[in-house]
Amino acid sequence: MRAASISDFRELARRRLPNIFFEYIDGGSYAEVTLKRNVADLEAIALRQRVMRDMTKLDMSVQTLGQTLKLPVGLAPVGMAGMYARRGETQAIRAAAGAGVPFCLSTVSVCSIEEVAATGTAPWFQLYMLKDRGYMRELLARAKAAGSPVLVFTVDLPLPGARYRDVRSGFTGGTPLQQMLTQLKDGIAHPAWTWDVALNGRPHTLGSVQAAATSGRRVTDFLSWIAQNFDRSVTWKDLDWVRESWDGPIVVKGVLDVDDARDAVRAGAQGLVVSNHGGRQLDGVLSAVAALPRIADAVGGDLEVYMDGGVRSGLDVLKALALGAKACFVGRAWAWALGADGQAGVARMLDILRAELAVAMILTGCANVRDAGRELLDRP
Ligand SMILES: Cc1cc2nc3c(=O)[nH]c(=O)nc-3n(C[C@H](O)[C@H](O)[C@H](O)COP(=O)(O)O)c2cc1C
Repeated sequence: MRAASISDFRELARRRLPNIFFEYIDGGSYAEVTLKRNVADLEAIALRQRVMRDMTKLDMSVQTLGQTLKLPVGLAPVGMAGMYARRGETQAIRAAAGAGVPFCLSTVSVCSIEEVAATGTAPWFQLYMLKDRGYMRELLARAKAAGSPVLVFTVDLPLPGARYRDVRSGFTGGTPLQQMLTQLKDGIAHPAWTWDVALNGRPHTLGSVQAAATSGRRVTDFLSWIAQNFDRSVTWKDLDWVRESWDGPIVVKGVLDVDDARDAVRAGAQGLVVSNHGGRQLDGVLSAVAALPRIADAVGGDLEVYMDGGVRSGLDVLKALALGAKACFVGRAWAWALGADGQAGVARMLDILRAELAVAMILTGCANVRDAGRELLDRP
């Protein structure tokens, strides 16, 4: 099947990836209420069709934090992408660079920050606050040395939410022997992946944090090390601590409440991502797109407001911009595309988003994404 839409990449990834990784990408926390809301609330927004305007020239570019994005889209940090395709993060950043959009590297990536930067493009770097501050300082120094232009500081994961699908698939929980048997069976059932990733995509460690994780050698061991090391004591004051080691722009990711958004401004952040971690953390909270307009109204003049969660088409991108986002990030969309077809898949996924955004712009009479506002929506 040739992918025509982002949901096609989901289906292709389902066929190609071992079940444990497909479920890890696809799933959310608890009953997945918020995961469904992210998608459904975007779907429910009606664009306002306008016709008979000269739409010959479209401008999709945005300037943000000293960068020019050719599309108002970025690749959100997604952990363990090197398990979805061979050296997955390096493939994804090449596709992002080709499309002129930013790639944000997760703290828990398979490829290290240095390996990714060696592609010729430095990624935005996503940081989790870990208890081991010495190690965090080292990580920040490495990201700086690799040339990362923007730090994305994720604040909605003081501990990981319960993801039932990961337990059911055998990815987490169970004994090491049970996990190994599950992975072996899964690998045998997916020979293309086994050849590409399991055999030729090594090493399978968490590249940027492996030196700090001494508990084991498998990716799941590193993940449990990370889980034990999330720091729940973090407050806005810690942003000052981060700034001692980072003199570039800081984007706080995982804000859903207006009061927190105001705190982010007071703490001196240059941007924030309205996000519920793709419905993978506190289930039952608002969808990102429902939280977006009030946050954009409150702080949009003070810092850059981005959004992620549920974006599955270029039409969704325009809806998010109309509600106040400067740009939006996609998580699962690129993880599925990478799992389906590596760099070519991610490049095609971005082409699809671009083509869909063009149609949405032309038929709402919006020639320039920077002018997108609530007048593009039928129920503003
Ligand atoms: C498989 C997977 C892994 C993720 N890993 C991280 C991560 O390491 N750091 C982070 O800040 N967010 C992580 N996220 C959240 C994404 O950055 C983003 O907020 C979310 O995927 C957006 O929702 P969407 O998948 O509906 O686009 C992850 C999301 C997924 C699906």
